[in-house]
Amino acid sequence: MAEPEYRPGLADVPVAESAISFIDGKRARLEYRGIAVETLAKESSFEETSWLLLKGELPSQKQLATFDSQLRMHRRLKYKIIDLIKCLPESGHPMDALQAGVAALGMFYPTKDRSDPEKNWEAVIRLIAKLPTIVAAFHRLRRGDEAVPPRDDLGHAANFYYMLTEKEPSPSITKVIDACLIVHAEHTMNASTFSSRVTGSTLANPYTVVNSAIGTLAGPLHGGANEEVLDMLEEIGSSEKAKSWLEDAVLHKKKIMGFGHRVYKVKDPRATVLQELAEHMFTETSKPEIYKLALEIEKIATGILGPKGIYPNVDFYSGIVYQSMGIPRDLFTPIFAIARVAGWTSHWLEQIKNNRIFRPEQIFVGKNDQPYIPLGKRP
Ligand code: SDX
Repeated sequence: MAEPEYRPGLADVPVAESAISFIDGKRARLEYRGIAVETLAKESSFEETSWLLLKGELPSQKQLATFDSQLRMHRRLKYKIIDLIKCLPESGHPMDALQAGVAALGMFYPTKDRSDPEKNWEAVIRLIAKLPTIVAAFHRLRRGDEAVPPRDDLGHAANFYYMLTEKEPSPSITKVIDACLIVHAEHTMNASTFSSRVTGSTLANPYTVVNSAIGTLAGPLHGGANEEVLDMLEEIGSSEKAKSWLEDAVLHKKKIMGFGHRVYKVKDPRATVLQELAEHMFTETSKPEIYKLALEIEKIATGILGPKGIYPNVDFYSGIVYQSMGIPRDLFTPIFAIARVAGWTSHWLEQIKNNRIFRPEQIFVGKNDQPYIPLGKRP
């Protein structure tokens, strides 16, 4: 058998067989279990899309009603987890608070046996239901306010907004949040999903699996980019400065945040969905300056990077949508996580159904057979 070649970042290397989602990077197609993400963003709900990803088909009316009520029932946190979050530094990043909270969850709901589908399903429900509560609780507590308990009469998206703001969102804001969660829910073998599979392949518990994925998502080259895009837009400041700023960045090999993708060599279809959501929202309010600047930057940056197949990705517009709803910047990536937990748990279930521990190879570039020099004989 020919020596497998080393591929930096495992580019183009298949690491699993999966039926969960599909990307055509040239035709800007993304399908969840065969259904186009644009259709789901328009017609479905995050709850229904999560079931579709986890189970492989759209739920019946009864299945959806049962799943929805299970999620509502499991949103609350043990009081000790709230106490733990109270002890975290207010200045800490909400992604770190989320990891602390999820690690604690795993301690309150220990599961040993991965072969018990009932236990696995219970953990999936708790993770999808409780991640929003952890994010919202940290946000309230870091400002010195009490955590807002979840409301059983609100859907997943509306309840998250309510726990953050203590206000019920309008139907149009609810629809925007729900669509954002749908487009962020799953994306084949991205870095954080790969982490969830690697950790899942050791038969670690599902809370630890999701924690590995949260840590991976936090990086600025992955889920952290949505926060960096707003910082970049703020640094550029005005359309007049955009061209010189971008040309200088590309000249110095700086990555333009919210641009480029390992798979998409055209504009990410999710960026298009998020842009449409933003445009729709801004018909009700005035178009913020930062959105106009983003449109200008997309035009100029596409002119420079488009020939290399580098276009806006999902993170380019998501932050603008969240900021226009008054959501603070450092919560953008945690929102990505409370959506992607549906994809991570779907891949986890698929992995343990037909598992083999991940243990790749390396190409050794060091030295062999080196002598040990006693300390006294060293300079
Ligand atoms: C997400 O994988 C997924 O599916 C991720 C995600 C998901 O839903 O899970 O889609 C979510 O993470 C979106 C990406 C968010 N990250 C960013 O916006 C950060 C900026 N983007 C880049 O860091 C980069 O495009 C990546 C990380 C997204 C992709 O990196 P690759 O595929 O490893 O590409 P690369 O770094 O090898 O770049 C190839 C070339 C290089 O030029 P050369 O050295 O060959 O001359 O393209 C250039 C890069 O310099 N390039 C960029 C660029 N992205 C790639 N140049 C300027 N700005 C950029 N953004």
